[in-house]
Amino acid sequence: MSHTNLAELQAAESRLMLQTYARYPMMFVSGEGVYLRDEQGSDYLDLLSGIGVSALGYNHPAITRALTEQAQQLIHTSNLFYHRGTTELALRLTEITGLDRVFLCNSGTEAWEAAMKLARANAALLNSEGRHLGTKFIAMVSSFHGRTMGSVSTPHKALYREPFAPLIPGVEFIAMNDVAALRAAFSDEVCGIAIECLQGEGGINPVSEEFLTVARELCDATGALLILDEIQSGMGRTGKWCAYQHYAVRPDVTTLAKPLAGGVPIGAMLCTDAAARAITPGMHGTTFGGNPLAVAVAIAVIDEIKRANLLDHVNEVGGYFHAQLLALQSKHEAIKQVRGLGLMIGIELHSADLAKTILGEMQQRRILLNRTHETVLRFLPPYLITREHVDQTLSALDELLTQHSSVITDAHQTLAPRT
Ligand SMILES: Cc1ncc(COP(=O)(O)O)c(C=O)c1O
Repeated sequence: MSHTNLAELQAAESRLMLQTYARYPMMFVSGEGVYLRDEQGSDYLDLLSGIGVSALGYNHPAITRALTEQAQQLIHTSNLFYHRGTTELALRLTEITGLDRVFLCNSGTEAWEAAMKLARANAALLNSEGRHLGTKFIAMVSSFHGRTMGSVSTPHKALYREPFAPLIPGVEFIAMNDVAALRAAFSDEVCGIAIECLQGEGGINPVSEEFLTVARELCDATGALLILDEIQSGMGRTGKWCAYQHYAVRPDVTTLAKPLAGGVPIGAMLCTDAAARAITPGMHGTTFGGNPLAVAVAIAVIDEIKRANLLDHVNEVGGYFHAQLLALQSKHEAIKQVRGLGLMIGIELHSADLAKTILGEMQQRRILLNRTHETVLRFLPPYLITREHVDQTLSALDELLTQHSSVITDAHQTLAPRT
């Protein structure tokens, strides 16, 4: 039995699938450039790119070429054997992140899981060398890092953690950018500090230079690892390869995933040589991680971002987008704040209900974005969008905000965001 139209599919999914997502009532069948096409043949301007994944848009020749050529040669051999792709990708990843060593896996949460395990193993190694380091982590309020049983201990939102308790113990949440709280929470009992330099799911919140610098100093003093999650903000999204490159701070560990292979599942954990001493053969691994197919596409994505100067483009169009949104804010009281870097942008509204309404009406106008942290409209478009796409979006937002100008705030913000 095949479910060809949306209504049939909805009915079948509600019966057959674990209900982890409340999907929007839309079904896409193809994509080209920055547009997605639904089953009726209508095109949507995609300003979300599969939650920050399809950075090169859809049907990009560099990706389809790498995929088809590699699929004809070799899809998988396992990590028991060598293939050329891993070192070629590792060379590129170490060059763009400034870190020394790479572990390849299949998703963001797996990369984060590896980072947490590395922090624990690093503590154990230092303890064996006569130093003292405990097993605690410091994580940030409004953070998001993943959903496996280990990594789910560090996202802040109760819905993600509490149903699965007991989680790994000793994770202390502090408000990002509260330097006094960071100093108070830190001691040699801490093995890692976890930060997103630009929080994604938490509402597009930037870390301050001072906070990041203090986190670096504290970790340097004890040997704990500074772990910067670049799963959403990395790979050029903010106009640099990693968001931490906007700051004068080098982490011990970073994690990449989402756009790394343009939509083919992959994750990467990178670390310094010093931290890498803690892992020896057999301690950690994955069957699929670093498989030739995903690796070939990741290489193609990095080379295309370089070839087409997409970091410059992200800075240029992102700067324009941001400036236009600030102009919109000066016109509409409903906008509380515009935040972000490059093409990772959030508009915080005063009202969660209004944010939900605007999102739905933008979808009716065939422009896709999403809402996170209740009140924040989030844009994670493909890097290929142009000023014309920004203008089209801004004029739609302007019209909708004018139309709903009576709704500025609401007392009850109870709607669940999607991730
Ligand atoms: C900052 C951050 N870390 C980790 C993750 C988890 O990645 P994945 O969904 O690929 O497991 C996400 C996903 O949204 C993320 O935004």
